[in-house]
Amino acid sequence: MSRERIVSGEIISPEEESFILSLRPKKLNEYIGQRKLKEKLRVSVEAARQRGEACEHTLFYGPPGLGKTTLAHIVANEMDSSLVATSGPSLSRTGDLMGILTNLKEGDVLFIDEIHRLSPTIEEFIYPAMEDFKVDFVVDKGAFAKVINIPLKRFTLIGATTRAGLLSPPLRDRFGLYHHIDFYPPEELKEIIVRSASLLEVKIDAESALEIARRSRGTPRVANRLLRRVRDFVQVKGDGVINMELARKALDAEGIDSIGLDHLDRKFLKVIIEYYKGGPVGIEALGATLSEELDTLVDMVEPYLLKIGFLQRTKRGRMVSQDAVSHLGLKIDGSDQQSLFE
Ligand code: ADE
Repeated sequence: MSRERIVSGEIISPEEESFILSLRPKKLNEYIGQRKLKEKLRVSVEAARQRGEACEHTLFYGPPGLGKTTLAHIVANEMDSSLVATSGPSLSRTGDLMGILTNLKEGDVLFIDEIHRLSPTIEEFIYPAMEDFKVDFVVDKGAFAKVINIPLKRFTLIGATTRAGLLSPPLRDRFGLYHHIDFYPPEELKEIIVRSASLLEVKIDAESALEIARRSRGTPRVANRLLRRVRDFVQVKGDGVINMELARKALDAEGIDSIGLDHLDRKFLKVIIEYYKGGPVGIEALGATLSEELDTLVDMVEPYLLKIGFLQRTKRGRMVSQDAVSHLGLKIDGSDQQSLFE
């Protein structure tokens, strides 16, 4: 259910994937925001180019939808090389990975999304590939087993993960560069929305772009998704031009409030406030009360609430802030705990 939240940073459908692809910046100078990160990437790409080498293995970590995949493609484009994309969960057999690795050309980028979900066998297999650009392939079994050492071209592994802490230390240590991608401020999201609107040939004024930005919970993928919904709305209910009134109406109709919280965010906060008197409460208890998977809460609900200071993670559990209580127009007194479940 929550996978289909309009404010989710995850890609919702293959159709949406192609929409996102059409808006994706291809070079660093088209990429809006993350200024420090862009500078660091520019230096490492330029240095590698000057030396005629592949870039160092790079790890991007941060919540979904902030541009990890886009940046991997940009690195490949800037290096004039090709990118092969795969993901931790889809790499189950060493044979498959072997095929991918041996087909990489000098300087190519191998992008592994959700790299924290690699199986231990694949992880072991990838260490010598990262470190020494070779793979050890075992042929035959038992007494006849032999290890064949296959050299690889010098490639760049770019890994993406939602939380760097999820990676095993040996894998983490094999990356030369680590880049944290943080939520975007509304001003930058506004620029992204204006850029996307122009690519989609839909008219929008600066004020409405900022309104959509404020409701995009710091996430470009959400911003582009909301823009698309607003575009449909103004086409049907207006004259095809996005203005403040229609933008607000469209987003209100989607259940997204003035700061981008949706039904699940509000329910999450409301449970802590009304049922657990503001916290602290353990995430397991919250998952059980909300009937939601812990990963959904930890990866897709909490990061933005933490970012805007509505939630605190303490040793004793999660606590809401007074700002969150005021935003929802609630009180912490425990007297109306039942209201949630009526
Ligand atoms: N589309 C998605 N993310 C973007 C970004 N950071 N800059 C420009 N366009 C984008």
